[in-house]
Amino acid sequence: MREDLILVGLGPHARAKYIPLIEDAVVGGRTSGFHVVELESARNDVDAFFRTRACKPVSISYVPDLRRQGIWYSGHGEDVLTAVAGLGTKVIVSTEPKAHLGYLRAALGLGLDCLVDKPVVLPMGSNGLPAPNRLVAAVAELKEICNRTGGRCVVMAPRRYNAVYELIGRYARHTSRNLGTPVTYIGIEHHEGVWNTEEEILSREDHPYRYGYGMLCHSGYHYVDILSSLLGHNEDNFGSLAVELDVHRATAADQVRQIGPDPVHRLRGSAPVAGLFPRPQFWGETDLVSAGAARRRGSRDTVCLFRLDLLQTSVSLRNWRQLPTNVYNKNGRYASETIRLNIGPFAAIEARILKRPHLGTEGHPQLTRHAHITLWRNAGFLGRAAFRERSYPARDTLVRNADLGAGRRRLFDDWLGGRSGKSALESHTRTISLFARFLAAVTTDRGEATASPAIDKVPA
Ligand SMILES: NC(=O)c1ccc[n+]([C@@H]2O[C@H](COP(=O)([O-])OP(=O)(O)OC[C@H]3O[C@@H](n4cnc5c(N)ncnc54)[C@H](O)[C@@H]3O)[C@@H](O)[C@H]2O)c1
Repeated sequence: MREDLILVGLGPHARAKYIPLIEDAVVGGRTSGFHVVELESARNDVDAFFRTRACKPVSISYVPDLRRQGIWYSGHGEDVLTAVAGLGTKVIVSTEPKAHLGYLRAALGLGLDCLVDKPVVLPMGSNGLPAPNRLVAAVAELKEICNRTGGRCVVMAPRRYNAVYELIGRYARHTSRNLGTPVTYIGIEHHEGVWNTEEEILSREDHPYRYGYGMLCHSGYHYVDILSSLLGHNEDNFGSLAVELDVHRATAADQVRQIGPDPVHRLRGSAPVAGLFPRPQFWGETDLVSAGAARRRGSRDTVCLFRLDLLQTSVSLRNWRQLPTNVYNKNGRYASETIRLNIGPFAAIEARILKRPHLGTEGHPQLTRHAHITLWRNAGFLGRAAFRERSYPARDTLVRNADLGAGRRRLFDDWLGGRSGKSALESHTRTISLFARFLAAVTTDRGEATASPAIDKVPA
């Protein structure tokens, strides 16, 4: 008999990404069945979701919703895991990030294997805001628990399995080692193309912007992970590095101010009818730009300069006012990303990943994903070609999961099969330290609370 799975948190991400993977594993006999743990407040929604699905959970357990009291995880979570888990049970933690740490502590403490979503953990301070200074220690604590109990923790980082990023990383590692020259510049740009209206942000209890975080804890973690792994290549080849970092951000309130009320009124359809929460004191970031230097430890020698720009405020395909019922990746998100590496005056590689829209079902655009890779070389010096480029059109559409679907599936299958090397928690140590630096930078600048953005005018 195969072990069973527990899915903690059945939000939009778990519904779109984990449920199909779990159903395949059940049908294929790789797991005997699955259990769900959710908040009591989500009971009707969860019941309705499973009513129409052929593959049903063995059990659904509900824990009290204490979020209004600022409690993201309570001991009820551990009680449920203890009651439901058997020998070899595996746990997927896909709650909102503020509850990850509590569930991981409990599940790993029981010696269970866990798969957790980014940003791994998000410790919150008593002021109700993220506490970046506690992040590294929290992850170290989880690693200690793993060592003590034998539990394993794997992080869902599908870009680690993405062919384009694998190719870029391989090229950087080999070329830089062969030339004896570090990757001297890393440039990463992610344009996410997301347009949230003020009424949406203020109508969702758990909207991260209302808790002082945003883009960095969305897809931002993945790009910090890519940056960290490229800096890691330099460290492996050229010795230990210290990072200097300069970060600037714009918040959800800034985005609302930048756009103004007129375009929102021009969106098709009527305004959503929903109760609005009072505006928070601090807004999470929608956008950040950063620049940094990796210097040889203990000296001012610069080994590598880098930029990381994460921009939700970029062209979106949204022209409707009401959120679609199944909002996941269907609210006009129109992402594209570029990564460029220079290896001194010798070689450079750039990958552009972009999505081409075409009209899909339900009037919402579907997106087909393409990758374009360009290589520049100092041919006179190195021999062979000075310029090469290649396009990789993707067969699948974003809605059918092509975006990172293949990588996610491979990571999930590896985890389920007990193979964890590529994204084990230990391998995220450098990423977490760098991520904590970024998070500290975006959560310390709180100037906007005193300004009077358009978003302030939304009635409480
Ligand atoms: N890897 C990726 O590319 C990727 C993409 C999107 C989201 N995510 C991550 O996936 C996770 C879930 O994302 P989402 O958009 O579905 O979030 P969400 O907040 O919309 O949904 C989370 C679900 O967890 C439930 N929940 C919250 N606290 C709980 C608790 N204490 N006990 C049990 N259930 C609880 C909520 O009721 C909700 O249904 C987040 O960590 C997010 O960062 C990862």
